[in-house]
Amino acid sequence: MKKTLVISNPTIDTINTRRAIRKYKAGMPDKDMIVQILDAGMMAPSAMNKQPWKFYVLRDKDLIKLISKEIAEVAFKDFIKPGLKGIFHAAKQLLHVAHDFNFHLLHDPVFHGAPVVIFITAPRDNEWAPIDIGMCAQNIMLCAKSLGLDSCPVGFGKFVSHTRYYSKLSIPGNEMVLLSITLGYGDEHPDIHKREGNKIVFVG
Ligand SMILES: Cc1cc2nc3c(=O)[nH]c(=O)nc-3n(C[C@H](O)[C@H](O)[C@H](O)COP(=O)(O)O)c2cc1C
Repeated sequence: MKKTLVISNPTIDTINTRRAIRKYKAGMPDKDMIVQILDAGMMAPSAMNKQPWKFYVLRDKDLIKLISKEIAEVAFKDFIKPGLKGIFHAAKQLLHVAHDFNFHLLHDPVFHGAPVVIFITAPRDNEWAPIDIGMCAQNIMLCAKSLGLDSCPVGFGKFVSHTRYYSKLSIPGNEMVLLSITLGYGDEHPDIHKREGNKIVFVG
């Protein structure tokens, strides 16, 4: 992609260097740091200033793995319905075989061995919540990057409600998980995915 942007500053650098990270070191980020990152999430704009987000922060290594494996099973079953093609598609998505295959994905196919998983919920009756949560999530990931941490948005995390461990998160019935984000110190440096061109149309 031809870069027309020539200005560089810490914000732009953080935006351009954030990557979805799927391999983590064992180190646990500071609780205060996690709180600061979630505070940045809460600075996101939200429709009618509803601030629909709530964060459930999971740091229990064993529980993360258990949920991860069960989500993989649930998601796989869901994809199996369309037949063989669907199975391949599911496996590819879950294990990211198209990119780097990491052995740890077998033990933690969904959360990639991250020490922290944040489940973001919103009230079920808020039609703008998916957009608000998307903005909130980007703030979280950029703030994390600026503090030396890495992350990955994990859409599969929403299937946690289909697992036996959902009650352990103590999420009330009027909320639903819209997205999860893994957080930790990255242990890989993936290449930047080439961004597609021809996306900007000046119409006047
Ligand atoms: C809504 C959403 C859901 C995603 N779900 C997953 C997921 O379940 N598993 C995963 O490994 N990556 C997931 N990703 C990460 C994307 O694959 C990644 O952002 C994309 O490949 C571009 O890479 P980059 O973030 O490094 O630029 C998700 C991203 C978004 C925005």
